Amino acid sequence: MEIVILPTPADVARTAADAIEQQVRSGPSVLGLATGSTPLGTYQELTERHRNGLSFAGAQAFLLDEYVGLPSAHPQSYHSVIREEFVDGVDFPAGAVHGLDGVAEDLEAEAARYEAAITAAGGVDLQILGIGTDGHVGFNEPMSSLGSRTRIKTLTQQTRRDNARFFADPADVPDHVLTQGLGTIREARHLLLLAMGEAKAEAIAAAVEGPVAAACPASALQLHPHVTVLVDEAAASRLAHREYYQDTFGRKPAWQGL
Ligand code: GLP
Repeated sequence: MEIVILPTPADVARTAADAIEQQVRSGPSVLGLATGSTPLGTYQELTERHRNGLSFAGAQAFLLDEYVGLPSAHPQSYHSVIREEFVDGVDFPAGAVHGLDGVAEDLEAEAARYEAAITAAGGVDLQILGIGTDGHVGFNEPMSSLGSRTRIKTLTQQTRRDNARFFADPADVPDHVLTQGLGTIREARHLLLLAMGEAKAEAIAAAVEGPVAAACPASALQLHPHVTVLVDEAAASRLAHREYYQDTFGRKPAWQGL
């Protein structure tokens, strides 16, 4: 894992956008998109760069997860959220942004279809990830199998409380979700984990410096050969080896990139 501590959330957004821009400019690309508030600055930055000529016409994308029971037209479905926050502002080809169908009649078949679609696309080149306060990635809640595939999960009450701000009534937060598994996510070629703010500091410390354990699903990323963790000072505040990360990143040869 490479841990990059940046002064502000805006620096995290710019650095993540740089990595995505570099990927998209390198040729046909498959991006993995996360929802939640964490990547919003990155999406705004990319939308701005699109206005200045950056094109997503050669890219496709797969969402990480979706609420069960929300049709894609529901404003809080991740289909709608990603359209509103990113996709509608750039130029992905029609049909190039894929998501899970949270109202599929057969949710297990839907999960299997999604796995096959990712494989058929050649796998994900660059996966953007946020982290939940309980250490979840995608919607892989604590005790998710480190080898899990796309499947239905039940949200913890902590995650339902965290996400209640997006719904009119906290009771409206769905109990169930479909999510790429930790095994699925770990097949992406490069993982970009973003976190900002003090509320994420504990989860980041457990993910980066704790043991690899299902109790902190994001710790499974330690098993991946190419992970970049972009955090602001507040999200980095509980890391024991902050100075080491800052020193080595400061002396990294520029040609290495992220
Ligand atoms: C959400 C999403 C995750 C996201 C995480 C953190 O529920 N399923 O993909 O990374 O929880 O959310 P936020 O970025 O809003 O803090």
